[in-house]
Amino acid sequence: MKIISVVGARPNFMKIAPFIRALEVRRQTYGLELQHLLVHTGQHYDVRMSAAFFAALNIPEPDINLKVGSGSHAEQLGQTMIEFEKVLLAEKPDWVVVVGDVNATLACSVIAKRLHIKVAHIEAGLRSGDMRMPEEINRLVTDRLSDLLLTPDRMSSENLLREGVPAEKIRFVGNIMIDTLEANRDQAQELDLNAIVRQNRIEGQPDPVTGLRDGQFALMTMHRPSNVDHRQILMPIMDFLLTEVTADQPLVWPIHPRSKKQLQAFDCWEAVLQHPGVVLLEPLGYHEMMRLNLGARIMLTDSGGLQEECCVLGTPCLTLRWNTERPVTLREYGGASVLVGNNIERIRNEYLHTLSLEVAPSRPEYWDGAAASRMVEEILEREMVSR
Ligand code: UD1
Repeated sequence: MKIISVVGARPNFMKIAPFIRALEVRRQTYGLELQHLLVHTGQHYDVRMSAAFFAALNIPEPDINLKVGSGSHAEQLGQTMIEFEKVLLAEKPDWVVVVGDVNATLACSVIAKRLHIKVAHIEAGLRSGDMRMPEEINRLVTDRLSDLLLTPDRMSSENLLREGVPAEKIRFVGNIMIDTLEANRDQAQELDLNAIVRQNRIEGQPDPVTGLRDGQFALMTMHRPSNVDHRQILMPIMDFLLTEVTADQPLVWPIHPRSKKQLQAFDCWEAVLQHPGVVLLEPLGYHEMMRLNLGARIMLTDSGGLQEECCVLGTPCLTLRWNTERPVTLREYGGASVLVGNNIERIRNEYLHTLSLEVAPSRPEYWDGAAASRMVEEILEREMVSR
């Protein structure tokens, strides 16, 4: 049996790490005849967005890198399809495993199905209902094509059933991100907050106001096109962050390349860089980000993965979106997040309210650190049946 798994962008790396480990355990323990190849499409290529995660999470070097790089959606998708088709024709795998909702996920599942290769989708069934998000389109198409839909929560399985997906294709196996979180939590906890700041600070900032202390800083990430690509949306958010949040506490911001580019394009980069209350960091490694999350008083983010991590770690979280494909992370379902969109009144009100809250860690069903082995078993079971 031969499996090709595909990664392309940062949020894929922490999801594939436990999957590859679970395959290896299955092979060694049961003498499984299995060949596995890891393909990196190259959508994320900076060391800090890609190679650093392979090293920190002990992911084997990709067997093949398609080197697709940046570009418009059409360029990224088209180039990935062209290159991935060559790989599939040469390698003829039985299964292609795709994860999450990035462009690599869509491009590779389409080509695999065109060549009659079975597709398993890790993190299937998430729905934001927002067709303006490129990720929502990627999720819909990938799920429609996949032979095995591995869902992280029961709501995602219900979404698929509602869309008419046959029940036998759907398996609720839990959240593989949490496998990685649990495997790395102790290592993250040992890191020193201020060493992380010293080692990752973006050059050109004034000295930090004070040393960071646990429970006394806000942490943010923001990179969604809907927040950072339009001046009229981004600038009021920046104004709120720079005047109101920094008046209460230091604001730590590991910045995504897209957001840096947009701040530069809107002539706001220097103001952020020089602001004494903002600790601007390069994109962080996995353990460093988790350590900051463990110490943050509040998180402001538009990332999907961080909403999940805040839920399990119990960090109060303002989700800078109007919708989420991960409703189990919301406070109304026992999680740590609240949706605040990009309306400043709403962000301010929820920010003030959230500062006064004690949020307890919560663990949705099967977010237990063992999702990857359930996924591997599901694939193997299907392979046995089809032979
Ligand atoms: C992608 C995913 C998104 C995910 C995010 C996490 C899609 C449609 N979106 O968005 O779901 O949350 O990754 O990071 O797949 N860039 C660099 N260096 C890099 C990578 C990107 O400078 O290593 C720059 C690119 O030049 C590009 C910009 O960042 O202009 C955005 O990259 P892109 O791959 O288009 O998508 P993301 O916004 O990162």
